Amino acid sequence: MLKNKICIIGLGYVGLPLAHAFSFKYDVIGFDIYQLRIDELKNAFDKTLELNEKQVQEALKNNIKFTSNTKDIQDCNIYIVTVPTPIDKNKRPDLTPLIRASETIGKVLKKDDIVIYESTVYPGATEEDCVPILEKFSNLKFNKDFYCGYSPERINPGDKEHTVTKILKVTAGSTPEIGKKVDELYASIITAGTHLAPTIKVAEAAKVIENSQRDINIAFVNELAIIFNKLGINTSDVLKAASTKWNFLPFKPGLVGGHCIGVDPYYLTHKAQQIGYNPEIILAGRRLNDNMGIYVANQVIKLMIKKGHKIEGSKVLVLGITFKENCPDIRNSRVIDVIEELQEFGCDISVYDSWADKEEVKEEYNIKLENIIKIEKYKAIVLAVAHDEFKTLDLSNQDNSVVYDIKSILDKFDARL
Ligand SMILES: NC(=O)c1ccc[n+]([C@@H]2O[C@H](COP(=O)([O-])OP(=O)(O)OC[C@H]3O[C@@H](n4cnc5c(N)ncnc54)[C@H](O)[C@@H]3O)[C@@H](O)[C@H]2O)c1
Repeated sequence: MLKNKICIIGLGYVGLPLAHAFSFKYDVIGFDIYQLRIDELKNAFDKTLELNEKQVQEALKNNIKFTSNTKDIQDCNIYIVTVPTPIDKNKRPDLTPLIRASETIGKVLKKDDIVIYESTVYPGATEEDCVPILEKFSNLKFNKDFYCGYSPERINPGDKEHTVTKILKVTAGSTPEIGKKVDELYASIITAGTHLAPTIKVAEAAKVIENSQRDINIAFVNELAIIFNKLGINTSDVLKAASTKWNFLPFKPGLVGGHCIGVDPYYLTHKAQQIGYNPEIILAGRRLNDNMGIYVANQVIKLMIKKGHKIEGSKVLVLGITFKENCPDIRNSRVIDVIEELQEFGCDISVYDSWADKEEVKEEYNIKLENIIKIEKYKAIVLAVAHDEFKTLDLSNQDNSVVYDIKSILDKFDARL
C-alpha cells in the first residue's frame, strides 16, 4: 500500500468508481451522508450500476471502509470531494452539497492535508467558495497549512468502455508543488494518463466548457431538426450524408437531460453574468435544448390529429424515462417535459422503463411506471430513450397509432426528431 490515506466524500456515479480504483493502491475511506447508500455498498450493491457486485466486493477486499461517520475520516491526509453540483429552480448553481462537504472536511482537516475537488463547478469555485469554508472550520491557513487540488471527472454514466482509469484526467494544484503531487496521485491509478493544468481555475474552466461545447453542438442539430422537419426532410438522413465529410462533427438531435450537459453550462453562464458579461451563444443553446421536449410533444399532437385521433383522454405510451440509454439515472430527465406537455393537451400518459427505479420515479416525477408494455392500446407511442430492449420492438401492426421516434432507432415510425 502507498502511504496516502484517501477519503472520498460522496459515493455516487463519480465517487464510488474512483474509490474502487484507488483502493487497489491506497487505504481508502468512502464517506457519504446517505446511510442507505452506505448499507447497500457494505452489502456489495451499487444501485447506480457503475460497479457490479464483483467490483464492490473487490473494493471491500481491498479494505475500503464505507461510512457515514465523520470520526472514521479523521486520520486521512487526502480528501476528494465528489458531491453533486445541481442547479436550483432558477437555474442558478446550488453549491449547498459542496459547502456542506467542505464543512465536514474543515472539521477534520490537519496540517499538510490536501483537499481535491472533482465536482463540476465554475472557474473560481474551489478557491473562492470552498477554501474560505475549509479555513473557517479548520482554523488553518490555505497554502500554508493545507492545500487544494482540482481534478474534474469525465466519466459517462452507463458507459462500460470509458471507465474512470481509462479516461485521461486533468489535474491541478493550489501551488506548483501540490499540482505535481495531485498529478502523481492520479497518475498512479489512471492508465490513460494525466494532464497537469497550470492552475485550479484552468482545470475548473476546462471541465465546464467540455460539457458546454457538447450542449451547444446538440442545440445546433436540434435547430436543424426543427428546420428540416418544416422542410419535410429527414434529419438523420441529412446528418448521415454530411458525416461523410472528414471534419463534420457527428452530433445527433435529442432531449438534453442528466446532471452534466443540461446543467453545467449554467455554472459557466452564472459566473459570466456575475462579472458583467451576458453569454449569448451558451444561453441560446440552453434555451433551445430546454424547449425540445415541448417541441416533440407538439409534433406528436399534430400527427395524432392528422390520423384523426381525438386528443382529450387519448392514451399515449412513453418508452423510457431515464436521461440516457441503458442506465438507471433519472436525474434531470427531460422526458418529463414531453410528458407534461402531452398531459396539458389532455392525453392519458403511460410510461414504461425497466431501467428506472419505480419508487425513485414516483418520488421525483409523480409517475407510476408500467410493469409491462401493451403496445396495442395506444393512440401514440413516443420512443424517448434508446434502451437496447426498445430497438427490437415490434410495431408492425401500429398503423393507426402515431409512432414518434426521438432517438431514431425504430424500423417503423411516423416521425423522428
Ligand atoms: N455522473 C457523471 O457521470 C458525472 C461525470 C462527470 C462529472 N460529474 C460531476 O461529479 C459530481 C458528482 O456527481 P455524481 O453523478 O457522482 O452525483 P451523485 O448524486 O451520483 O452522487 C453524489 C453522492 O454524494 C452524496 N452527498 C451529497 N452531499 C454530501 C455531503 N455533504 N457529504 C457527503 N456526501 C454527500 C450523495 O448522498 C450521493 O451519494 C457532480 O459535480 C457532477 O456534475 C458527474
